This record gives sequence, C-alpha cells and structure tokens, in this order.
Amino acid sequence: MMIPLFLGGVTAAAQPVSPAERVSLDAGWRFTKGDPAEVAGKLDYPAIKDWVEASGARFTTNAQLAAKTKPEGDPAGGAACAALQYDDSQWRLLNLPHDWGIEGPFRQEFPGETGKLPWWGVGWYRKHLRIPASDAGRRVYLDVDGAMARATVWLNGHYMGGWPYGYASWRVDLTPGIQFGADNVVAIRLDNPQDSSRWYPGGGIYRNVWLVKTAPVHVAQWGVYVTTPEIGPQSATVKVQVTVDNDTDADSAVTIKSQIFELGPDGAKGRPVAALPAGNLRITAHQWASAEDQTTVERPRLWSIEEPQRYLAVTSVEQDGKVVDRYETPFGIRSIQFTADKGFLLNGRRVPLNGVCDHHDLGALGAAINTSALRRQIEILKEMGCNAIRTSHNPPAPELLDACDRLGMVVMDESFDCWRRGKTRNDYHLFFDDWHEKDWRAELRRDRNHPCVVLWSIGNEISEQGSAAGRLIAAELTGIAHQEDPTRPTTAACNNTRAGYNGFQDDVDVFGYNYKPSEYGKFRQAHPDKPLFGSETASCISSRGEYFFPVSTNKNDGKADFQMSSYDLYAPPWATPPDWEFTGQDANPSVAGEFVWTGFDYLGEPTPYNRDLSNLLNFTDPAEQARLKKELDELGRIPTPSRSSYFGIIDLAGFKKDRFYLYQARWRPDLPMAHILPHWTWPERAGLVTPVHVYTSGDEAELFLNGTSLGRKKKGTFEYRLHWDDVVYQPGELRVVAYRDGRKWATDVVKTSGPAAKLLLQADRRKIQADGQDLSYITLTIADKHGVLTPRAQNLVKFEVDGPGEIVATDNGDATSFEFFQAPERKAFNGMALVVVRAKAGQPGAFRVRAKSDELKEAISSFLRMGCVGGRVRQRGQNHSAAAARHSICRSAGGPTNRPGHGGHR
Ligand code: GAL
Repeated sequence: MMIPLFLGGVTAAAQPVSPAERVSLDAGWRFTKGDPAEVAGKLDYPAIKDWVEASGARFTTNAQLAAKTKPEGDPAGGAACAALQYDDSQWRLLNLPHDWGIEGPFRQEFPGETGKLPWWGVGWYRKHLRIPASDAGRRVYLDVDGAMARATVWLNGHYMGGWPYGYASWRVDLTPGIQFGADNVVAIRLDNPQDSSRWYPGGGIYRNVWLVKTAPVHVAQWGVYVTTPEIGPQSATVKVQVTVDNDTDADSAVTIKSQIFELGPDGAKGRPVAALPAGNLRITAHQWASAEDQTTVERPRLWSIEEPQRYLAVTSVEQDGKVVDRYETPFGIRSIQFTADKGFLLNGRRVPLNGVCDHHDLGALGAAINTSALRRQIEILKEMGCNAIRTSHNPPAPELLDACDRLGMVVMDESFDCWRRGKTRNDYHLFFDDWHEKDWRAELRRDRNHPCVVLWSIGNEISEQGSAAGRLIAAELTGIAHQEDPTRPTTAACNNTRAGYNGFQDDVDVFGYNYKPSEYGKFRQAHPDKPLFGSETASCISSRGEYFFPVSTNKNDGKADFQMSSYDLYAPPWATPPDWEFTGQDANPSVAGEFVWTGFDYLGEPTPYNRDLSNLLNFTDPAEQARLKKELDELGRIPTPSRSSYFGIIDLAGFKKDRFYLYQARWRPDLPMAHILPHWTWPERAGLVTPVHVYTSGDEAELFLNGTSLGRKKKGTFEYRLHWDDVVYQPGELRVVAYRDGRKWATDVVKTSGPAAKLLLQADRRKIQADGQDLSYITLTIADKHGVLTPRAQNLVKFEVDGPGEIVATDNGDATSFEFFQAPERKAFNGMALVVVRAKAGQPGAFRVRAKSDELKEAISSFLRMGCVGGRVRQRGQNHSAAAARHSICRSAGGPTNRPGHGGHR
C-alpha cells in the first residue's frame, strides 16, 4: 500500500513501492534531422551550457560543479517540437539504435577522415510514453547507453537534463516532469558539429535506451560494486559494496541482502553458492549511503580467457520488511597483475597481451550497436588468437564488455582521445574542464564489475604528455580511477618518447608506448620496476587481395589505385610493419604484449589516402611534422575517394586479410597453419618475378610451383615470415609444406582460377532469432567452375530474400566504394562480398537468401532457419526437428575450394 505524504506541496512517497523495472525503450521513435525554425541556433551548446552542467552532480567532487542547478525555465524559452501535443506525424518512424550517418550518401567532397558520410548536424527524436497511475511515487529514469552527441532531454516540452560526451552512458531523472496515468513525450535533441572527430563517429542515438522505474529508496545507478580481494583454489572472498539512494523527504532505514549465484555462459542464473550477511543502512533524506560486506565462495570457478566463468550477485533492498529493489550484478573471480618482469598475469599465469585496438563502428552497420555484430567480431578475433581489445579511444558500448566477459577477452577500457588540447576544432577539449571528472567516474562505475576489464586508460596520444600541466591531469585521472576502483591499474597510450622519462610515466601504473618497439629496451633500463606494453602497434596498411609489383620493402611504398599492397610491408611514417613490433617484443620479453592498430578496418581515417592532418599529432618533433605535412599536402591535391581505413587485420566486411595469418602464426603457435600470399591468378605476369610470402606457425617450409620445389627455407632469429623473392609466375598451383622441428606441420595451396562461373554463399550462422536484431553474415564468393575463388572478380551481385527475412546491409571491404551500405546489390571486391540479413521481428520460419549476377550463373541458394523470440521454436505447421532443420538449412555451396590448406589445417 502506498501512503503519499504531502509536505509543503511536494509529493513524497514515504512507503515502499514495487522493485525496479528496466525496459528497453528502443522501439517506435519519431526522428527528424535539423532544428525546427523556432529554435534554430538557440540550442547550441554555449547557449545551454548552464542547463546541461546541472547534470551528473553525482560524478564530481568539485563543489562548484556539484552545486550547479538548472536555471529557471527552459533553454531558448522552450522548444515547441518537444511539447506533448506537437504533431510529429511527418517525422520518420524508426527503432533505436540508430545512426543517421550510415544512411549516407557517401560524397566525394565530405571529409575522408570521418568516412565521407553525413554524420554531423542536429537531430531530434521523440517518443510517447504512457506511465500508469500505479507508478505514482516511483522514480522514473531515462538511461541512455550512448548518443552522438551533446544530448539534451526534454519531457512534455520541458528540459530535463543532458550530457555532451557522445561515448558516455548517462541517466536523466524524468520523475519531476512525469504525468502519471497519462501520456508523456520524451524528446532528445542531438548536436554533432563538424570537425569534432578524427574518425567516423556516427550520429544519433546509436546505443540502447532504457526506461528504469524504481522505488524512491533504491540502488543507485551502477550502485553495486563487487570485488574479489582474496582468491585461492579453495575459496575466494567476494566483497559487495551497495550504494542506496533515498529520494524521499524522510530519513530511511533499509536492510540489504546479497546472494551469489553461478552464471551460465548464456547468462542463465545457476545455483546459489554464497550469501552475504544482511546489513542495515540508514540514509538521510535526499542523500545516498553505502554499505559493504563480504562472503566466501568455495572452490571458485575462475574467469579466464579460455574459460570465462561468471557469477551473479543478486542484491535486494528491503524497507519495512518489503523488497523495494533488486539489482543483479554479473562479475567474475579472477586475479590480475602487471609486473615489470613478467608483464600481464591472469590468475597468476603470464598471458601475453595479443591485443587489437578497435574503433566503435561496426562497418556497414555504422555506429548503431548490435550484439550479433560484436559477437562475430570477437569470434573472428579469437580465431586469430587475439585475447585483448583496446576500446580506442573512448568508453565502449556496455554490450561489448558483456560479450568480452562471456567469450573470454580482456579489455583496455579507454576514456579520451584528448584532454584540454584538442586534435580537431570541435572535439572533447571543449568539454574537458567541465566534464572529464563526470565522464571518467561514470565510465569507471559503469564498467568496474566486468572481469574482462584489466586496464583503465586515461587517454590516447594526449598532447599534454610532454608538459607539467599534463602531469597534473594524468595524476588526477589516475587518482580518480584508484578511488573508484583500486583493483585495476591505469595506463595511457603515449606516442611521445619523452613521456617515458619526463615523469609522466610515474602518473600511470602501467606504461604504454604507441609505435615505439625500439624504445622498449631503453625504457626497461631506465625503469626496472615499471610494467610496460605496446599500447598501439604496427598500423600496417593493406587492402584485401591487392598486390603491387615490383614488391618494395620500403615501408613507404605499396600504394596504387587508392589501395595498399597486401604484402604487409607498408606503414605510415610513425608506424611499422608487424614484424618490427614482433622483434621489439621478442627482444624485450618483459613487455606485456601489444595492441595492434587495428583488428578491423573502420570508417574514416583512410591513411595514406586522406588529408588527415590530425596524423601530424603522431609527431612531436617539428622537423618530422614538417616532413609529414609536406607529404600530406602533396597527397591532398588528389581527390581521394577513400572513406575507410586500411589498418585492419580484417577488412571492413569482416573478411580476413593476409595479415590475419601472420598474427595467428604468432598468437596461436600450436595451431598447425600455413598461408601463402599472393593469390595465383596473374595472366599478365607470365614470366615475371612474383614474390611469394608464407606465414606459418611452423619454423621451416618448402614451396612448390606446379610440383617443382622452389626451395626449403627456415625462419631465422627475429624472422616471422618466409619469402621466396624470385619466383617467376606461371599459372597452376602453388603449394607450401611447412615443418616444425623437422616434422611436417601444415600445408597451403593456391591455384590459378579460371573465369568466374559461380556464386557461392556461406552463412556464419544459419539459425538466428526472429527478434529483428539477431544477424547472419553471409559471405559471397565468386568462383570458377571448379569452385576456385576468382581473386580479382568485381562482378555486380544482387541479393534477394524470400520469406520473412530482410537485408540489413551489404559490403565488400573496398575502402573506396561509395555504394550504399543498405543497397541489396554490391560489386564484389577481389572475389568477395557480404550480405547481412536478419529475420523480421516476431516472424519465425525459414527464409531464403539468393545471390545473382547478370554476368554469371545464378547461385545455389542458402536457407536460413529462424528461431523464435523467447525460445519458442514451434509454430503451427512447422517442423523444427533437428533433422528437418539440418536439411532445410543448407543446400549450398560453402566456401571456395582453392585454399585446401585453410580448410584443413586446423
Ligand atoms: C595513432 C592514433 C590512432 C590512429 C593511428 C593511425 O597515432 O592513436 O588513433 O590515428 O595513429 O596510425
């Protein structure tokens, strides 16, 4: 029962109400680009700063910032388009997550460094919400996982709160404006100025949005913090700290109980394993308070990369004997340590950081978050032996951390790409002073229960690394991280050699160098006790399937046709081919490992075909800067068509470049593997020297051309690839036999293909949920009549879906393609293309995906059988027996057959 108390005209619930609810608010928003005329120009950040800065008081210790309250009235005197009655029927209806930039079109005149896509400008979203009368007395919050950028939130025409940083997760309290038992409208305005990013940021509410309703006394946002201070084989201590908010006018007494459960890989709650003693907490009116206690879990199942075992803390808050809140916190039991001599230790065992840096975009899906896309990325990375991701250069989507927890991948969780000194005219430097503490504490509190997170990064290539002022900020950010989470070290990604010696190195717990393999030895000598790792490495550039001759070993070469040769020898001036970094790591085994720039290609920053002057920031030496500027100015005269990066080990479509196997050979040394490059279909090269490189986890290999040996070669010290530099091309078959310790280890074969004759389709997953979100990625390969990949085919391919499925996007990994990602047709790039499909929400059943090209025979089709939301698989008239599913799933096709080595070497 609820008894409202009326105090001075303010309604305050003194009695408990039902526990919290958190529901997705993604469906059914109305959207428009631009400001309606009456507010145009009136809601720019400088004009509304005082309102927005009243948000996030919870995350600052700066008394002045914490004391800020909203000015009277609304910014710009109000916004009619935020009002309840506003007619938004002409606005577009859509579901979140939404990225307005990815819809294009690509334009040659748009900046290449942000993807030649129109991600900037103002956008408004509106959604009607009926809040039942029975919710009166509850708190109602809007939780936004990420919106790009400078968000303001309005309810029924009135400004409620906002948050500028586009990568932050944040909450706005809607309670004071909610009309209970009536219709409400939430409006969100976003504002993305041009020149605010060095890569494609996306635009829009690109992450998930939630409506959270709680009792007035409830667990605070991210209010449970679980740590495991002691871990042994027999038992582990689990400490749970709970922060409870009292949003009433009266002091409140609550009892807090937490229970620990096992958590299955699929997220299902398992058996209870421990309980914490009940604790009592008194919370002053309109304040919060925390309580902490601990318990013991017997024979803990440790979280690791190979076996990512998790637990769940279920916390309840009781008031007057009634449960008023229940809060679930997944966590892991694992120990981490960074040492100067051993590097990174997980559960006491050295684990080399075989990591990649990645930006947040998901290729053809843009910035719009999708868990299937994330899972696919992680699976591909794990296949390579990658065990670590750096969320460059910002807080990630929460779903990325969930996926890393589940699948076993450690994370370097990064905060900022700049502090006070910006890298672009409108980037975060404009907000740093007022927002960095709020953003940083929010990120730490949100992410500190994830077992995958092992490092907090206070920034990337921060200009202030060289200055005394920078040291003060570094010390402040590290101090905040230690307050919020004393269990993990901080780091920074430093590109300035001097940051290793000017004292900056002391302001982080673990030192990270970007692109400095030749510095590791010197750093170690100077700082025998400081843990060190390669926070960003290589930046090798290549285009899948492109090879240019003659093969130069000068890292500045390898350019043609706005593509990069895939011999994996090329890198921009500040960077190195992968092999150089391997040498630096192997010569200095105390280095904890590396994070390669990048795992996947990303939208924007198409170095070296950009005018990305921000790359000048890679140099602190003025002479080097001047040299690069000259080079960029020269390149800039060419109207470059490139719109996405060449840095990925894997291309934008998720297809492996050759480099994948160079890293796999190193990171999975026990996997028998050999990989030949280039492809072997060069009709114009008969009689010409065509060097052959082989990546293998073996130590020796013999190469055969049409059965004739071209010699057996052995890797020397600090050699990571084998190469036959004077192979004279003749069509046929190139075969390599790799050896390890003198014994046959792996083989690979490439064959010359005939003319394109077939389209082959292969789905990464043939059974997906009919929830409108789950995706299947289908690879199209163009092959000759024998099924051998035609490695230079560029045919236009049309995709069609029969049945309750739909095409979400297509891609081909070509960094110069201006084709729409949403188009159902796509030119193949070097023999391959991608179509991403989903089942229509709530429409289980089978659908068929077909590919056809006017120039080629129609493809054999693949079938995808869909599951149901909520695990209800059976629909009237459908037979979902396993055998039926197997048969109807696939009559196809599969991948090309010219790489038996790749099919058979695992
Ligand atoms: C680094 C920078 C990255 C990216 C990379 C390209 O210096 O930290 O964000 O720009 O260069 O090589």
